[in-house]
Amino acid sequence: MNVPIPHAPDHPALLRRSIEVITENQAPSGAYPACPAFEVYRYSWFRDGSFIAEAASRADAPDSADAFHRWCAQVVTDRAGRIEELLDALRRGERPDEVAYLPTRYTLDGEDTGEVGWWDFQLDGYGTWLWALTAHLARHGSDPEPYREAVRLTVDYLAATWSTPCYDWWEEYNDQVHGATLGAIRGGLHAVAEAGLADRDLCARTIDAIDTLVRERGMYEGHLAKWLGSKQVDGSLLACLTPFGNVPLDGPVAAATLHAAELDIVQPDGGVYRYLGDTFYGGGQWPVLTGFLGWHYARIGRTADARRALDWIASYATEDHLLPEQAPGVRLQAPRRLTEWEERWGDNATPLLWSHAMYLILADELGVSL
Ligand code: BGC
Repeated sequence: MNVPIPHAPDHPALLRRSIEVITENQAPSGAYPACPAFEVYRYSWFRDGSFIAEAASRADAPDSADAFHRWCAQVVTDRAGRIEELLDALRRGERPDEVAYLPTRYTLDGEDTGEVGWWDFQLDGYGTWLWALTAHLARHGSDPEPYREAVRLTVDYLAATWSTPCYDWWEEYNDQVHGATLGAIRGGLHAVAEAGLADRDLCARTIDAIDTLVRERGMYEGHLAKWLGSKQVDGSLLACLTPFGNVPLDGPVAAATLHAAELDIVQPDGGVYRYLGDTFYGGGQWPVLTGFLGWHYARIGRTADARRALDWIASYATEDHLLPEQAPGVRLQAPRRLTEWEERWGDNATPLLWSHAMYLILADELGVSL
C-alpha cells in the first residue's frame, strides 16, 4: 500500500484537479462513477453523486450537475412501474423483499447492476438527490418542470418507506433505522416542499412523523444517534446539521451532536472516523467527513476550524492531486483488518469523486477559489 505522507496543502492545484476529476470521469449519460479506478465503485450512487453534483453546481460546472440530475430523473421515471407496484404492496400491508425497493447504485447507463449480494437497499440517496436538485435549480434559476414527475415519484417512494430499516450511508446494519438516513430523507422532503416542487401536505406529514420518531427514539443524551435506540454518534450525522438543517444550527441538538462527534470520532489532527469500532479498510479517517465537519463549522462561524478541515483534506492528496476514500494508514482503528480489504478489492479507492466534491464544497463555503 502507498502511504502518502501528509504534506502542505496546494489548494490551487487541488481545486483545479478536483473539477477535472469530476467532469472528466462523468459518463456521457450524466452519471458519476464513485471511483473510476476501483472495480466495485465503477457505478453511480445517488448519495455520492448528489454531493458531487452539488460541488459541480458551485464550481462553475453547472452543465455537469444538470446532466447528473437529468440522469437521476430518468433512472427514477424508468422505474415508475416498480415504484407503483411497491407502494401498492405496502398499502396492502405486505412486507416486500429488499429487491423490490430501488437500489442504491446503478450502472453508468442507468441500469440495475444485477449484482446479487451488494448492500443495495438504502433510502438516503433519494432524499439527498431531492436536496441537491433543489439547491442546484435555485442556484442557477433553472426550470424545474422537467423534474416534476421524477420528484413526485421520489417523494411518494420516500413518504411510504422512510421508516423501513435499511442499510446506512456505509452500507451496513440493515436491521436498523439510521439517523443519517432519516436526516437525508427529511432534508430532501423539506427542500422540495419549500421550493413548491412537491405535495406540501405529504412532505409536511412525513417530516412531522420523522421528527417525532427522532425525538422519541433517535437521540441519546441530547444528541442525534447513529440509529434508533443507539447511544453512538456517526460521522454521517454531521450532514443532518449541515447541509440538511434537520435541527436549528444554533440549537441544543446541533450543539450536542457536534460535541459528541468531537469527543468520539473527530481526531486531534482534524480527521474524522465514520464511527467508533469501524474496521472497513482498517477503520481510518474519511476526507468526506472532514468535509462535512468543515462545512458545518463554516456555517456556525467557526471559520478557522473550517479552514483547518480544508487544509487537512488537502494534505492527504496524492502527488497527482487525487483524494482517497480514507487517509491511508493513518490512525487506523483496526490496522489488522486492512489487508483483508486490500486483498479483496485493492488499494484504498483513489480518486474518490465524493472526496473531491466535499473539498470543493468546503472551499466554496470558505471563499477559497482559483
Ligand atoms: C461507502 C459508501 C459510498 C460507496 C461509494 C462505500 O464504501 O461506505 O458511503 O457510497 O463506498 O463511494
